[in-house]
Amino acid sequence: MRVTVVGTGYVGLVSGTCFSEFGHEIICVDKDADKIERLKAGEIPIYEPGLDQLVEKNVREERLHFTTDLAEAVPGSDAVFIAVGTPSRRGDGHADLSYVYAAAEEIASLLEGYTVVVTKSTVPVGTGREIEKLISNIRPEADFDVASNPEFLREGAAIEDFMRPNRIVIGTDSARAREIMRDLYRPLYLNETPIVNTARETSELIKYASNAFLATKISFINEIADLCEVLGADVQDVARGMGLDKRIGPKFLHAGPGYGGSCFPKDTLALLRTGELNQVPLKIVEAVVDVNRERKLKMADRIIEACGGSVEGKKIAVLGLAFKPNTDDMRESPALDIIPVLQQNGAEVHAFDPAAMEEARNYLTDIRYASSPYDAMDGADALVIVTEWNEFRALDLKRVKSLLNSPLLVDLRNIYAKANPAAEGFDYYGVGKGR
Ligand code: UGA
Repeated sequence: MRVTVVGTGYVGLVSGTCFSEFGHEIICVDKDADKIERLKAGEIPIYEPGLDQLVEKNVREERLHFTTDLAEAVPGSDAVFIAVGTPSRRGDGHADLSYVYAAAEEIASLLEGYTVVVTKSTVPVGTGREIEKLISNIRPEADFDVASNPEFLREGAAIEDFMRPNRIVIGTDSARAREIMRDLYRPLYLNETPIVNTARETSELIKYASNAFLATKISFINEIADLCEVLGADVQDVARGMGLDKRIGPKFLHAGPGYGGSCFPKDTLALLRTGELNQVPLKIVEAVVDVNRERKLKMADRIIEACGGSVEGKKIAVLGLAFKPNTDDMRESPALDIIPVLQQNGAEVHAFDPAAMEEARNYLTDIRYASSPYDAMDGADALVIVTEWNEFRALDLKRVKSLLNSPLLVDLRNIYAKANPAAEGFDYYGVGKGR
């Protein structure tokens, strides 16, 4: 099969590369000439474990191609995926669809033979219908369907998630489009991956409802963590005790500094906006968003409190800047709320992150970036863990203690909670740990 993927951001690049690994001929298109040149040279613009080898292999085997020219790609394609960005629109929080519609317009003029146009980007319910109208207006004679096929990739585990998904969701009423989608995902069909064949609107909503529900689990456990601290209970044990109930499940019940990233914050806001526009109040999602917003800010106060009520003139070591491990993505990272508040209160911040320091420079100022976790904490008055990178899980606590000015450990991800750092002489603050 021949497939065009429009947009070589996170979703487009991972999806295109994985489809080529399935044996299809994939042409990835992006307007950014510099990015396309770098991709052709084997340079991957994002940090995603395993992606570079997969791109290199499929380019070498001539199944994966990159171009800036849609006209080289779309004519003769069986499917054209729209995987361009849908950022939050300033002001009302709704998804900004200008890139999606611009791509659809260009695709319309190039369609040749029957083609399925597929939305892979997360788009509000009803977008597929709008794209269909738009293409029909430009090319009334075009032979095409518009299907929805949302992605459920996690950054840092995107290839695994694509190759071994929990489910594939395909939204279209057209049997012809469904057949093409089945051929495209053939290796996964053979694998007995569950397929949800449904209407386009339903498929679009599944994506938002899934992300909003996962965000709900996180805000829920974060509120329970606050309660644990007051009651003297342990949130990790509460989460384990809850999660063993198969109806609840153990995942996404890790209390922490709040969710970040490019998806949950944006998608929850967009879902709220869809509710508003349709006069259906989504009170739970609204609360989830509020709890998370407040939580990120509250974390800085918690650090200041642990430092005895003031960080004025203190040196604070921060481990982890990315919104989660295995990515260099800083978007909506809790670190972006925490660090400026510490600085406004007179703290000097020394930070280390295994992948996100370069990216962090675009968001944060006046930080000293350290060359290792130990370098960051040398002479610091407190050590704060913001992101649970694996390399922070096995620090030599004796060395940590000897490097720190005072043995204060604020662990916003609870990675040391079970190691009992208090026994090693640390003044230890976890999350949701009654003291
Ligand atoms: C999320 C979803 O997990 C993917 O299924 C979805 O495809 C993707 O959004 C998307 O819409 O594109 P991602 O944002 O990469 O993926 O990251 P997650 O692993 O879901 O983590 C999101 C945030 O929640 C992180 O800040 C993480 O630290 C936080 N989190 C996660 C918690 O605080 N506690 C948890 O128990 C789990």
